[in-house]
Formats: sequence, C-alpha cells, structure tokens
Amino acid sequence: MRVDVVSIFPEYLAPLELSLVGKARTAGLLDLQVHDLRTWTDDRHRTVDDTPFGGGAGMVMRPDVWGRALDDVLTPGAHLIVPSPAGAPFTQRTAEALATEQHLVVACGRYEGIDARVAEHYAARGRVTELSLGDYVLNGGEVAALVVVEAVARLLPGVVGNPESLVEESHGAAGLLEYPVYTKPATWQGHAVPDVLLSGHHARIERWRRDEALRRTAARRPDLLAALDVAALDRHDRAV
Ligand code: ADE
Repeated sequence: MRVDVVSIFPEYLAPLELSLVGKARTAGLLDLQVHDLRTWTDDRHRTVDDTPFGGGAGMVMRPDVWGRALDDVLTPGAHLIVPSPAGAPFTQRTAEALATEQHLVVACGRYEGIDARVAEHYAARGRVTELSLGDYVLNGGEVAALVVVEAVARLLPGVVGNPESLVEESHGAAGLLEYPVYTKPATWQGHAVPDVLLSGHHARIERWRRDEALRRTAARRPDLLAALDVAALDRHDRAV
C-alpha cells in the first residue's frame, strides 16, 4: 500500500519510522511518504492560511496551496482522507475498509481547517472521506494521521507477525471489548490470576473469556452491546 501524508509539520509524523509501521516500511509492505505543504506555497513567507470569509476567529488553510499539493500527490483511484472533528467517526470498520486500498493520501489541516472547496473539488473527481477520531478537538490532523496510518498498517498482510492476534482483540469481529489478559507471575502484590486460566481446560477458558468480554462491554460500552446481532449470541451469553 502507498500512503502520502501532507502537513505543515512533517516532523510530527516521525513516529511512523518506529515499531511495526517502521518495520512495514523497511520490509516494503508500506510505501509511506510525508510531505511539507509549504513546498507548494508560492510566496516569500510560504503562506498556507488566510482570514475566514464572513469573519470570525482563527485562520483557514488556502485552497490554492492545497490544490497544488493534492494535484501532485493524488494518483488516479487514490482515496483522500481529511482528518476533521466534523468528519465521520473513525472505527475499526473504517480501518478495515481503508486497508484494502492501493493509495491513501492524508491531508492534515491546521487552524480552523481547510477551505471547504478543497474536499468538494476532489470529491467530484475521486473519493474523499473526512474522518474524526472522536468528539474532541485536536490542534490539527497530524495526530489523526498517525492513528489512521497505524490502525490501517497493522491490518496489511505480513505486518503483524501472528495474524491470530488480530482476531480476538477489542473491536474485532465479535463486536465486544477484549477480555482481560494476564502473564507471570501467577501472584503479584497479593493479586492472583483467575484460577480458570491455570486449569488447562480449554473450553472453560474460552467460556470465561467470552463472559468477561461481555461483562466488560456491558459495563464500559453498553452502546456496543446494544448494537450486537442477537443471532451472534448463544444461550450462555444471554445468562451473563
Ligand atoms: N482535527 C482536529 N480535531 C480532530 C479530531 N477529533 N479528529 C480528527 N481530526 C481532527
């Protein structure tokens, strides 16, 4: 997969050289490039923003600068992602869909955002999705770009060493939060690991994990539980 990120703070994206995403790049599974938006400015001050038409606080990113950048970076069939608190919620389902793309371009806005004509212009020529990390406001799209790239990259074939670890995690196919996990020592600071996990009884362990996932989801995310397909539940699930 190819990913291009355009930002006025390319250094913000440096963590994408580390860990799994960094390794995916070195292994050739992910071709990721970060670009400085100011490369496409045409004045001495390398201006990227201006005051909003209609008045109000803050600055808006200029469509002409973004237009030159995106005309250079987008390829036919590319999917343009614009992080924004006004976007659609970014979820594991979104990450799964984006992981099937050939080319993603992430346009990181700053200040009050990017002139609305940019998304409109490219939506008439290709795919544009405005995505929000959640109901809070960040200073710009860079942190969202980090989140989207990491969530998508780990779903690419070969990036996560053991693909089984993708199956049971929170927000996976079961639609539940993940069960709690434990490792050695079996007792720590007087807290013992649940007995069932030491029993070696595979079916009981599976049942316990499923019950814990259901309990956690009910306590922390009743919205996820309410959205579950009843047909996906069994008799034991209903008893939890
Ligand atoms: N930019 C500013 N706030 C944001 C958010 N919540 N999600 C995505 N991009 C943003």
